[in-house]
Amino acid sequence: MTTEPRHFLDLDRFPASELRHILELGKACKSGTAGRDRPLDGKAVALVFEKPSTRTRVSFEVGIRQLGAEPVVLEPSGTQLGRGETVGDTARVLSRYVDAIMLRTTKEEKLLELAENASVPVINGLTDRTHPCQLMADVMTLEEHLGPISGRVVAWSGDGNNMATSWIHAAVRFNFELRLACPEELSPPADVLAWARGEGGNIKVLHDPVEAVTDVDCVVTDAWVSMGDDVNDAERRARLLKPFAVTTDLMEKANSHAIFMHCLPAHRGEEVTAEVIDGPRSVVWDEAENRLHAQKAILLWCLA
Ligand code: CP
Ligand code: NVA
Repeated sequence: MTTEPRHFLDLDRFPASELRHILELGKACKSGTAGRDRPLDGKAVALVFEKPSTRTRVSFEVGIRQLGAEPVVLEPSGTQLGRGETVGDTARVLSRYVDAIMLRTTKEEKLLELAENASVPVINGLTDRTHPCQLMADVMTLEEHLGPISGRVVAWSGDGNNMATSWIHAAVRFNFELRLACPEELSPPADVLAWARGEGGNIKVLHDPVEAVTDVDCVVTDAWVSMGDDVNDAERRARLLKPFAVTTDLMEKANSHAIFMHCLPAHRGEEVTAEVIDGPRSVVWDEAENRLHAQKAILLWCLA
């Protein structure tokens, strides 16, 4: 009898209870009560990068080793994938060598094709559409600093990009209010907002950052130009996004206990000022660290 592999593709595909279970496992990995004694000894995990990465690459590699498994890093320039071998064939072949595959890619369709054709779990390490591993670390970080996220209010100020979509998924599944302040032209995808409405999520799309951040518990932003965005469009994006930059003045509208988060890499003087990201409310280094713990939990869940 063959069983379906346990993929980690996107937060909207999970019931809230399963995500909560993975998150608590991440906290246990961090405190050292889970993930000890090389539970994945003898296993191998392929890490396939079609886009650059610092955090995802290092946190997965180190996490995999800490769990007793072996990471195998693949980049398109060194593989047949980069010469046109299909994603489906790559999935079938990798499944014969490794126990799980993490993919960072452009189009979501490639991730889905990989999952469709792999007989081992597939983990989404970022696509143009979403970044769910980051959100598990982000929710974990918020809870470390502020306690349970349920009922909290988070404001996103910036581009309605892949991170914004994953924040919407998280808000629905972890039951918190999310206010997104984005330029009209760079709003999150309509189908994602429709999904959130259908699920009864408390999501507000605003176009005024001050209105969005007033009295919130957490302010989040991200780069103005994501990997995969047209670099020739950078000037237009900067013009549209400048009013949404997170400054000290904007942070002052949030609650006095409010924290600042950013998935990184950051661009000081663009989406956030140095004063904010390097200031006392910023928890971005904890957030980056928590990628390691959250992903160890995801790996344990996938390979349980
Ligand atoms: N936040 C994040 O995913 O960073 P990298 O692009 O460095 O992996
Ligand atoms: N929105 C960014 C996130 C980087 C981790 C990008 O896709 O480039």
